[in-house]
Amino acid sequence: MIQRYEQINLRDRNSFRVEQRAACLVEFETAEELRSLFAARVPDRWTVLAGGNNILFTRDYEGLLLTPVARGIECLEEDAASVLLRVEAGVEWDDLVARAVDEGLWGIENLSLIPGKAGAAPVQNIGAYGCEAKDVIERVHCFDTETLRERVLERDACAFGYRDSIFKRELKGRVVITAIEVRLGRRPQPGLGYGDVEREVAARGGATLRNIREAICAIRRAKLPDPAVTGNAGSFFKNPVVERATAERLLADHPDMPHYATADPARVKLAAGWLIDRTGLKGYAEGRVGIHERQALVLVNRGGATGAEVIAFARRVQQRVAERFGVEIDTEVNIL
Ligand code: EPU
Repeated sequence: MIQRYEQINLRDRNSFRVEQRAACLVEFETAEELRSLFAARVPDRWTVLAGGNNILFTRDYEGLLLTPVARGIECLEEDAASVLLRVEAGVEWDDLVARAVDEGLWGIENLSLIPGKAGAAPVQNIGAYGCEAKDVIERVHCFDTETLRERVLERDACAFGYRDSIFKRELKGRVVITAIEVRLGRRPQPGLGYGDVEREVAARGGATLRNIREAICAIRRAKLPDPAVTGNAGSFFKNPVVERATAERLLADHPDMPHYATADPARVKLAAGWLIDRTGLKGYAEGRVGIHERQALVLVNRGGATGAEVIAFARRVQQRVAERFGVEIDTEVNIL
């Protein structure tokens, strides 16, 4: 059922907890509801606001926000090796992970505790601890606002990349994701290769699904601020991918600099958190905005900050990194 709100305060609908307003917000469940909404009148301006965990409102939104609220999870196929689930866009991502772990299904345990809704997972191809949503997403169901029809994209059509997909590019402003299909495995396939994961899992008695989930949750809780307590949107910046020559120049001066190979041998991924940290900004604050003291990639609302204050602060951080290292870091968060 559609629920419509006019002139709504967005504070409780964005994890940064900025106090901007939207002219209109519609909660929807089905593609059919979207069809009747768009068939009646195509709004001049609209976007999707799901969990609000990766968005920064820098001003009031003068258009229509669409929020998916359907929370069904349905099993479409199952065999000895795997299960295919259809997950509606309004399901909390971590509820899906918890359920998978309870049912002995492998594939998303490393993505435990990522805030946000399942429908948002393919947009930025959420990822953590060596796992990305694209590893399990088999197809994505959308409503196409131009044709007013439903549309299904197979994984290969989604152009998934590091924090990237077709939904941030060609299909941005055109489709609304209504559900995803994820394939999870029944056989153990632990991914312990990233950072402290192996040690934390061993400390809990070995690589069971439950131990991995608990280890990931503990690592995240230790490093990342809880959005229920401190307004933030996770990593505010993306890790930059630079030319190999740039990485080599920096490594000559900073041999301890973290760097990761990418699919393209000519390009290397750097850790934006390390770069910001090395400019001395970790824990630094200006007024109501600051950098988290345990993870420099995360900007925090220290209480009552406006979106405009956050973005102005972020621009200064980008400038400091560019001056110090000659590297541009882009925002990961969607700026509106
Ligand atoms: N580092 C520092 N100082 C910092 C932060 C990081 O020196 O303040 C160094 C770390 O020591 C490490 C490297 O930078 O050597 C990478 O740090 P970390 O493992 O914490 O991961 P990240 O690259 O900073 C990415 C994701 C996170 C995800 C973690 C774990 C992005 C933009 N961020 O962070 O995702 O949880 O890896 O996989 O890719 C998010 O997207 O919101 C998010 C939290």
